Parts: sequence; structure tokens; C-alpha cells
Amino acid sequence: MYHEINHPFLKHKLTALRDENTKHKEFRELANEITMLICYEALKNIEVEDCEIRTPMGKMTGKRMSNEIVVVPILRAGVGMLDGILTLIPNARVGFVGMYRDHDTKQPVEYYSKLPEDMKNPLVFLIDPMLATGGSVVATIDLLKAKGFTNIVFISIISAPEGIKTVEEAHPDVQIFTGNVDEFLDDNKYIIPGLGDAGDRLFGTK
Ligand code: PRP
Ligand code: URA
Repeated sequence: MYHEINHPFLKHKLTALRDENTKHKEFRELANEITMLICYEALKNIEVEDCEIRTPMGKMTGKRMSNEIVVVPILRAGVGMLDGILTLIPNARVGFVGMYRDHDTKQPVEYYSKLPEDMKNPLVFLIDPMLATGGSVVATIDLLKAKGFTNIVFISIISAPEGIKTVEEAHPDVQIFTGNVDEFLDDNKYIIPGLGDAGDRLFGTK
């Protein structure tokens, strides 16, 4: 199931992010701010449990998160969302999966993974700004599940309808939270209108 965040302030930030005149410094700041806004919405589904505390005024029953959180950025562009999500969940652990789309075939190629070990059913926030064909995310979720991570939420900044469909078909249990569902993919499998190449814009490589 997917959730598109329809908040006017987020759409305002997204427009600045997409603008071709936005350079890497501002692009990085915006990507992290937008991630925080989407992540806040995604956190509405977390499980909480009762806990007893004392305020300066006396005893009360509060709530605390039941699950440990692991954030997994898909390298490289997912790193551009990491500061934003860690601002909200500073004690999350962080794993990394390296995945790039082959230039010609557009198929995902895995080149790195390092994930936390010995955790009891953590909630995984998988982050990547662009959900295009869905190949990279599906391959990463396959890898995460094979390593025992089954409780997964995926957060993207912009998604194509094609990518959402692909992820939903392959992994119907994974909730998708996205800042916008765009129109379609072009012949090169780039999102239209999108924002171009997220990794290059984040890191100033082109
Ligand atoms: C981009 C993006 C996603 C992937 C989306 O990464 O960050 O990981 O493409 O495309 P898909 O849904 O069709 O798989 P890219 O391969 O450009 O690598 P990079 O992050 O290293 O720039
Ligand atoms: N990867 C990107 O960075 N942008 C797209 O539009 C599609 C894949």
C-alpha cells in the first residue's frame, strides 16, 4: 500500500527541490527537510507500549516505541535523506545497501551491504529519493528479507506509478510513503517531471 503525502508545505519544498536552478547545497538541505516531513507521517504507524514515568508533578503512564529502528539508505542517493531521518530518530541504527541501475539494462546491480546484526524484529526505514521502475527497491527488499528483516517501510521523495505498482506486487506487506506520485517514466526510465538524477544533484557529480 502506498501513501502520498498531500501537505502544501511539502509540495512547496518539493517544487524548490525539483527546480533545475537549485544547486547541490540547497538540494541537500531540501532533501533532508522533505525527508523529515515524510518520515513524520510514516511514523504514525509505529507500535508503542505503555511505560510508567514520573513527571515533576507525579506518576503517569506514557508511551514509548516498541521496536528498535534501523534506517537503510540505498547508496548512493539514499544518503541524501539520512540526516533528515536521523534528526527525527537519532538513536536509530544504520545499515547500508549499495545498488545502482545499470546504464543500459536499467536493472539494479548490488555492490555493497552492511546491516546491523542480532536485532529482534526491528522496524526498517528503507530510504531512496527516487522510485522509478522499482527495480532497485525490490532488489533491496529481497536482500533485507533474506537477512531476516521483515518489518519494512519504504520512504521516497518522488515516485513513478510504474515503480509503486512493481513494489506493491513484489512486496505487498511493505508500506510506501512518498512525497509525490509523478506522471510516468520516459524512454530512459527517468521520472517525468521528476527532478533529474538525484545522486548527481545531491553530490554535484554532473
Ligand atoms: C537511482 C535512485 C534509485 C534508482 C531508482 O539510483 O537513487 O536507487 O535510481 O531507479 P529504479 O526504481 O528504476 O531502480 P542510481 O542507480 O542512479 O544510483 P546512485 O544513487 O548511485 O546515483
Ligand atoms: N534515478 C534518478 O535519480 N532519477 C530518476 O528519475 C530515475 C532514477
